[in-house]
Amino acid sequence: MTDTPQQTSHPVPPEERTWWKESVVYQIYPRSFADSDGDGIGDIPGIIERLDHVADLGVDVIWLNPVYESPQRDNGYDISDYRSIHHEYGTMADWEELLAQVHDRDMRLVMDLVVNHTSVDHEWFQRSRRGDPEYEDYYIWREGDGDGPPNNWESFFGGSAWTYDEERGEYYLHLYDESQPDLNWRNPAVRRDIFDTMEWWLEKGIDGFRMDVINLLSKAPGLPDGDPDSEWVGAEHFVDGPRILDYLEAMDEQVLSNYDILTVGEMPQLTVERAREYAGEDGPLDMAFHFQHTKLDYDGQKRWSVGDWDLPELKEIARRWHDGLDDEGWNALYWENHDQPRVVSRYGDPEAYRRESATLLGTYILTRSGTPYVYQGQELGMTNAQWEDRESLADVDARRTARELLDSEQYDTFEEIADIVGYRSRDNARTPMQWDDSEHAGFTEGDPWLQVNTNYEQVNVADAREGDSVTKYYQSLIDLRNEYDAFVYGTYSDLHPHHERLAAYTQTLEHPDGRVSERMLSVLNFSDKTATVDLSTTIEDADLLLSNYDRDTIGPTRDHEPYEARIYRLE
Ligand code: GLC
Repeated sequence: MTDTPQQTSHPVPPEERTWWKESVVYQIYPRSFADSDGDGIGDIPGIIERLDHVADLGVDVIWLNPVYESPQRDNGYDISDYRSIHHEYGTMADWEELLAQVHDRDMRLVMDLVVNHTSVDHEWFQRSRRGDPEYEDYYIWREGDGDGPPNNWESFFGGSAWTYDEERGEYYLHLYDESQPDLNWRNPAVRRDIFDTMEWWLEKGIDGFRMDVINLLSKAPGLPDGDPDSEWVGAEHFVDGPRILDYLEAMDEQVLSNYDILTVGEMPQLTVERAREYAGEDGPLDMAFHFQHTKLDYDGQKRWSVGDWDLPELKEIARRWHDGLDDEGWNALYWENHDQPRVVSRYGDPEAYRRESATLLGTYILTRSGTPYVYQGQELGMTNAQWEDRESLADVDARRTARELLDSEQYDTFEEIADIVGYRSRDNARTPMQWDDSEHAGFTEGDPWLQVNTNYEQVNVADAREGDSVTKYYQSLIDLRNEYDAFVYGTYSDLHPHHERLAAYTQTLEHPDGRVSERMLSVLNFSDKTATVDLSTTIEDADLLLSNYDRDTIGPTRDHEPYEARIYRLE
């Protein structure tokens, strides 16, 4: 029997299709999603109760932030036991129920893997600091250099990356908080223990890992001083370190490749060239999160600053990553996560055009090739919250920075730093999910661990079920993505790279013989002014599929209203 012509020339043959390429991922931050027992802290039974909201959006995968036992200095990124569930979140039985309920709804569950560091409360660290021979080499211990730490490396959260431990009489390395000591990946026993733990979770039936700061595992031998003027002092000796690919390849060979899973690495300072090595055809991971588009609103290089951003730069980043990974690799597309302030407050307009800009920004993530990630509340158009004083902040990073700025000569009062710290704090992403307009937005019957955004009466899930809400628009975007392969497997092309206000790009899917199978055009006005672009020469016949303004049909050359987004199918 011969194949029919249609089958042989299908633009995406079955062997090239992969579920994780076709998925939309929804991220749940357990502490802030839903509280079932009134202690003010989100928990796993709370997630189960609200799972239909997630399923109704049409997403395929849930990425759950860390739920392991932890003293919660960094909200679970400081793990004290890799194989148990944090008691405030529930029990292992609750987690197993969650997994079953996610699978029942035809979704998948991806867990957070945090293996660059543990908590100081982890038994490994406790034994290591005591000098237990089995564990003494599990972390990175050094003697000081004279009176000071072993080198000039800095913690990402500020200050030295070294803390002196009285008990052991040495310094330990921590690239994050002092409660998060870095594991020594040079030690084969550490690698074996981590790989065993990963296997243990995979055997429970999970569908993948999001890997926390995974390109920092390998530190340069001798731990040399870093360039004191760089953005993160020491980074050149631990970002993409000398043995990182060996570690990840071993992880892939011994663990990951035995399962049909999604793997995405979070990678500070990632370049597209390095991404091809990590997540190319033969790379150990499926895809990676880079940060280039999240730094556009910095003033220069500094994270704790706010500057103007410009659209041609955003488009240039998109082009670089699409072109760079087009033939080799796969993109991960996102705006928000638990570390990023709310995107509407950064690249949209949270006051005059909240609905329009939230839907426009959603369009940008969901109409390009790559796997899109949507963070809880993004589908409501949640915005940054109001921070009145230092005590209202909870994030270790923001609190430390606020303290440092106020201790410096430069500032005297919180008001003076509110614009920077309030805008940039990770707390903005972590305010409780807004379910309805009842007290505490329906998140808890107790006192929420972090204040609820004051706009919850206007912005909440119950309301979003009616009218033309941001949530409904996200549902339509996800439906469209499922209907047209061009959004997933097509080739991205930017039609107007230099336009200051509009982004106009196509996603084109071709048959192997070069005939166009599907071609989609998205035109997005990223500004609060009317904008026009002439696309008449490239486009003759266009069918409007979706817009965030009320339109039945419209050609691509007409004026675009503030934050208008339109998606066309081209004939
Ligand atoms: C990652 C996490 C962040 C955490 C840090 C240290 O960047 O996303 O929340 O603070 O790693 O684990």
